[in-house]
Amino acid sequence: MLDNASKAFFHLLARSATLKKIASRYGMRRPSSFARRFIAGETVEEAIEAARQVEASGLLQTLDYLGESVATLKEADAATRDYLRVVDAIINAGIGRNLSLKLTQLGLDVDRASAVDNLRRILERADKFFVRLDMESSHYTETTLGIFETLWQQNYRNIGVVLQADLHRTEQDAERIIALGARIRLVKGAYREPATVAYPKKADVDAAYARLMRRLLLEGTYPAIATHDEAMIREAQRYAAEQHIAKERFEFQMLYGIRRDLQTSLVSQGYRVRVYIPFGRQWFPYFMRRLGERPANVGFVVRGIADEAR
Ligand code: FDA
Repeated sequence: MLDNASKAFFHLLARSATLKKIASRYGMRRPSSFARRFIAGETVEEAIEAARQVEASGLLQTLDYLGESVATLKEADAATRDYLRVVDAIINAGIGRNLSLKLTQLGLDVDRASAVDNLRRILERADKFFVRLDMESSHYTETTLGIFETLWQQNYRNIGVVLQADLHRTEQDAERIIALGARIRLVKGAYREPATVAYPKKADVDAAYARLMRRLLLEGTYPAIATHDEAMIREAQRYAAEQHIAKERFEFQMLYGIRRDLQTSLVSQGYRVRVYIPFGRQWFPYFMRRLGERPANVGFVVRGIADEAR
């Protein structure tokens, strides 16, 4: 994870229409194209194929049909209908029933009530699924948790939420969700945040992550330790062993295309590992967040564009 200045740089690049155009033209067009390292494809069929391969290696998966920040109710409705088709495709394919989605994809920026209605439409169809609400920037934290709590109280129990260790508020939010008995995915946080709401230094984010992780392992309901950071993973293993927390009581999660070696090594040690598989045509913002996390990825993309453009 980079510091906030670097995140800010990639945030700026992510808003460049020219860059988006170049990336969209070259990023996915061939099986070897550079964006395919992180994104399973643009169609649900490609995502299901990736999910099958992941499951064949003994890993679990969650599918994310990419999209965020829709600006009209019509777009939100279209995204919801797309998600309903994804649900049907997952059922037909017989793969693990687990989805991750973003509330701004369902219209949160346009109208909160419509976004909740859209989410309910998906939850009703996705009976026997587990649906995780991804966490977006801190601007949405309170609203996302509020919606999550409302649905939980209305007895939607096949849902979980994400908390970001970089935010100052997260220790309190964790207690809120632990008290409900709901599942938390713990991440470090992928968004550029002001120092008033988030730790600017990576060392402080890492320390908060380790604290929260121990708390969730001890008191949380089936927490998801979502990180590629080997030091955090080792600490989770050490703490779970020390506290006699069985390997079945939590899972590790990692992103598609990142540290596949670590994913399979954990499975071979008997841990549960879930791979987050993003797909769909709206992959650019997700892709830019992955670049922002690791400068070395930029070189790999520039080489990819040069190869593709030849
Ligand atoms: P850190 O950034 O310290 O990286 C540790 C090591 O992992 C690096 O040294 C490198 O080896 C490897 N690594 C990390 N990122 C890489 C990359 N992009 N490319 C190549 N290698 C990389 N965030 C959020 O704000 N809301 C959300 O809902 C989610 N959801 C989510 C789900 C899952 C399953 C995961 C794993 C992550 C998220 N995230 C997220 C992203 C998260 O906040 C964070 O930005 C990334 O996981 C990177 O942080 P790490 O914990 O891996 O540690």
